[in-house]
Amino acid sequence: MHFKLEGKDEQSSARAGTIKTGHGSIETPIFMPVGTVGTVKGVHQRELSEDINPDIILGNTYHLYLRPQTQILIKAGGLHKFMNWDRNILTDSGGYQVYSLSANRKIKEEGVKFKSHIDGSYHVFTPENVMEIQRAIGADIIMAFDECTPYPCDYNYAKRSMHMTHRWLDRCLSHLEKTPLKYDYEQAFFPIVQGSTYKDLREQSAEYIANAGAVGNAIGGLSVGEPAEEMYEMTAVVTNILPEDKPRYLMGVGTPINILENIALGIDMFDCVMPTRNGRNGMLFTAHGTINIKNKKWEDDFSAIDEMNITWVDTAYSKAYLRHLFTVNEMLGRQIATIHNLGFYMWLVREARKHILDGDFRSWKDKMVKQMDKRL
Ligand code: GUN
Repeated sequence: MHFKLEGKDEQSSARAGTIKTGHGSIETPIFMPVGTVGTVKGVHQRELSEDINPDIILGNTYHLYLRPQTQILIKAGGLHKFMNWDRNILTDSGGYQVYSLSANRKIKEEGVKFKSHIDGSYHVFTPENVMEIQRAIGADIIMAFDECTPYPCDYNYAKRSMHMTHRWLDRCLSHLEKTPLKYDYEQAFFPIVQGSTYKDLREQSAEYIANAGAVGNAIGGLSVGEPAEEMYEMTAVVTNILPEDKPRYLMGVGTPINILENIALGIDMFDCVMPTRNGRNGMLFTAHGTINIKNKKWEDDFSAIDEMNITWVDTAYSKAYLRHLFTVNEMLGRQIATIHNLGFYMWLVREARKHILDGDFRSWKDKMVKQMDKRL
């Protein structure tokens, strides 16, 4: 993997760059649509590539390991072939889902024993087997196995957990060396900074992660319920330490406003279920604020979903029609909302990139943050 910095904003820490991998270029800042279990929910691959057009999407080790299971993905020739997606994929390690989804889990130095949220069966994730599973899935970017601490988290727990995440990182790295690639392209490995909401732990963790000398670095354990200001403070501490010449990925973030504020702090990559999950619940993100399309006020509003027409669905359908689809629980409603939201998120990061390269990111960001902080 190769990363080239192409522009830096003078009034913030925002950057624009390009990542190159075996499955093509990724222009940063980037938002990665979440395709948890081998599909971006509700969106065909053709709509995804033609209408939404991301350079990279996300998959999840935890989900793919449980279903369809690793051996099926190997038989298919990897996730790209299985799902018919020939652009980039990043897989999260399960270091988040194991804690948030499994009915119960026991965390030990060796790894995590967890109960599947599907059928209650027991499984163990270790730094070693998670590297093997990610080799088998075959994503272009794979993540370290970590513990994502909850919020709030007491200092001693956060400290112990951070050190364990660091030891797990060392185990991931030494096991990766021994685990050959399964397919004919490289996989980039990103370690993850933890440390909860404690500045000194975040500093220690960022230094440890930076020292690992990986081709890209991630920040985890944020957007887990802490106030946005605390998230921004932690991002700033960490981006000051992580190397400038490597991409920085803030995991699981966030709202359109969170994304712009974190771009201003030097983050290059984001993923979040918000545009897809909230879309399926009838929440639309726009440049002028959010819309709850299920609200009665849209019942006879025949104006376009979004006059900006970022994706074709925005002017092809009216708010009244989309509200109707949600009212009668038709799946087309969820599909339209998902395409609209992903289109909007992609537009947002592409605009951010343009403004970074044009030199007026800071004023544009401030205007957008104000403008988007509304319920329509
Ligand atoms: N997704 C959101 N936050 C995290 C995190 O802290 N770790 C991992 N592995 N994935 C995440």
